Amino acid sequence: MADTLVEVNQLKKYFTVKKGTIKTEVKAVDDVSFTINKGETLGLVGESGSGKTTLGRTIIQLEQPTAGSISYAGQHLTGLSFKGRKEIQKNMQIIFQDPYSSLNPSMTALQLVMEPLQLRMGRSEAAEHAANMLNSVGITGSDIHKYPREFSGGQRQRIGIARAVVVNPEFILCDEPISALDVSIQAQIINLLIDLQQELGLTYLFISHDLSMVRYISDRIAVMYLGKLVELGPTDRIFDNPLHAYTKKLLSAIPIPDPVKARTAFEQQEGQLAQIVPPDAGATEWLEAEPEHFVLKELENE
Ligand SMILES: Nc1ncnc2c1ncn2[C@@H]1O[C@H](COP(=O)(O)OP(=O)(O)OP(=O)(O)O)[C@@H](O)[C@H]1O
Ligand SMILES: [Mg+2]
Repeated sequence: MADTLVEVNQLKKYFTVKKGTIKTEVKAVDDVSFTINKGETLGLVGESGSGKTTLGRTIIQLEQPTAGSISYAGQHLTGLSFKGRKEIQKNMQIIFQDPYSSLNPSMTALQLVMEPLQLRMGRSEAAEHAANMLNSVGITGSDIHKYPREFSGGQRQRIGIARAVVVNPEFILCDEPISALDVSIQAQIINLLIDLQQELGLTYLFISHDLSMVRYISDRIAVMYLGKLVELGPTDRIFDNPLHAYTKKLLSAIPIPDPVKARTAFEQQEGQLAQIVPPDAGATEWLEAEPEHFVLKELENE
């Protein structure tokens, strides 16, 4: 049995949005339950607005859940004190989509990677630690003293990764970490993430629109649709035997070997996806259709 690191139970995150005088509720995450195993990569896919980022941010405590619970390494996060939650949060990091806006432009690469170490160790130790981390993501020599604007997109993402990994986390939310990058360097960044994972035993929740990349990096894949998880299973099973109508639609855009074409095809699909009946139209059941492969099944109305 795999070790569970994160357990999400009936999680809901609703936002209240005001349009003029009318308040509406957006069910960004709506009754989602699943686990993430230690050392695995769980891919999270679904069209824009389906709730992927909100789900990830709620797991790492950047958003407070509306209902439901999250456990991390067996500890319930919801019942913890602020201090207790902060302590657990140290094990969780995030890698952002846009490595430019997430890096302070007035700090050098070295300063940026030293910053998260500030409270943990002295200055010279932090500098040594940060320089080693930068070297291991491929930023070497005098480059470590350069500013974000002096780096390419791929190099900036390497700095973003170094910043996340330098504090020795266990769990990293990768929220579209390659989608802002040039296609020619996307694979390098993915391979860097895989190398770091193997070396450090990291666990990833990997959000991406790029299904070929998700397939490449993920052990399992979760499919989100309108705030719900509609399917979850081992990567090969999701691709070879998609069960939910939404997953089938999503996957019909691939396999296309060229990632640019695959993404374009995916985006074209997205326009049509809204036509599928929402999963909360009637009663549903989370069904294990084959070992470890779950699907949200709509129950027939009696
Ligand atoms: N802070 C917020 N306030 C109000 N609504 C929000 C907030 N954050 C997200 N939402 C809404 O929640 C829904 C899910 O958004 P979310 O960003 O999680 O989707 P996503 O799947 O990550 O989309 P994308 O692929 O475009 O990044 C959307 O309808 C969004 O508008
Ligand atoms: Mg998002």
